[in-house]
Amino acid sequence: MSQKIQELEILTPDDWHVHLRDGEALSFTVPATARCFARAIIMPNLVPPVVGVAQAEAYRGRILEHVPADSHFEPLMTLYLTDSITPEEINKAAASSVVHACKLYPAGATTNSQSGVSDLAHLDSVFAVMEDVGLPLLIHGEITEAEVDIFDREKQFIEKHLIPIHKKFPKLKIVLEHITTADAVDFVERTSSSVAATITPQHLLFNRNDMLVGGIKPHLYCLPILKAGRHQKALQMAAISGNPKFFLGTDSAPHARNTKEAPCGCAGCYSAPFAIELYATIFEQLGALDRLEGFASRFGAEFYGLPVNQSKIVLQRSEQTLAEKLPYVDESGIVPLAAGSPLHWKLRS
Ligand code: NCD
Ligand code: ZN
Repeated sequence: MSQKIQELEILTPDDWHVHLRDGEALSFTVPATARCFARAIIMPNLVPPVVGVAQAEAYRGRILEHVPADSHFEPLMTLYLTDSITPEEINKAAASSVVHACKLYPAGATTNSQSGVSDLAHLDSVFAVMEDVGLPLLIHGEITEAEVDIFDREKQFIEKHLIPIHKKFPKLKIVLEHITTADAVDFVERTSSSVAATITPQHLLFNRNDMLVGGIKPHLYCLPILKAGRHQKALQMAAISGNPKFFLGTDSAPHARNTKEAPCGCAGCYSAPFAIELYATIFEQLGALDRLEGFASRFGAEFYGLPVNQSKIVLQRSEQTLAEKLPYVDESGIVPLAAGSPLHWKLRS
């Protein structure tokens, strides 16, 4: 009988997609992410959004105030693309040491995307500069036309927008964020090395039945929405494939409990406090713990052209039950992803 490994040492991972929010929330979210990630790509969908280098620098400063004293956590900032972003601002971003990518939210696609891009044609001159200077374009890949079914929005975005963008700007580095479908896996696999994708723990661990059968689970509601089991399977296979085009991005997106458990609940899963343990759990279930380090700690840095971390973390086998609720900005608290479920790994501190 094969014996289960008790300890796993990997290079310190990075999170290539996280929402830390602002203000009081930072005192919860920053330590949760800095706990195990050396760096993180910080999403810019604040209200108002982070649209320029000056705002990104100021936001970075507010984040750094909450980094625990014993941590070297480095926030990698992004700009939120709007219809009025200019090529000059992109050049400024590329020259700054603070901004590492630009995020494209189609207007209305998700939380705080009201000021997103209404017509991609507006951005041709901006994409041309990004391609030139090597600044990655991070995409929330969902079409927003009201008549398009929510489960088809990613697939249609790829066909209608992503393929044309990639054709027009073949060297533009693109990360299709939080992919949810076999179609996205397919697209990324057959496209050149300038296109990659992040995968979240919720889309690896769950499918839409988990969210909808036997009662609706608002804490599994995120965007892009969980898809059918066959899509979950395709994402799992991509994550453990060892293909460097697929890497870790939690999309940890905190919302207070009372805004999720509501008649019109917010989209987003909060995974930061247990993120690496959740990924380890699913990689182990898939018999691929040996592939975790590439996915979590190497491929993202390589894609962004940054050095791989030198330090290491140790995960220890340990049976624990994930907290049902954690403290957050109001007395309703926050319910983490997979709350109340068994967890088989623990980060050694
Ligand atoms: C994110 C949020 O809450 O900011 N929500 C989500 O469901 N993922 C926005 C996003 O990444 O779509
Ligand atoms: Zn996100």
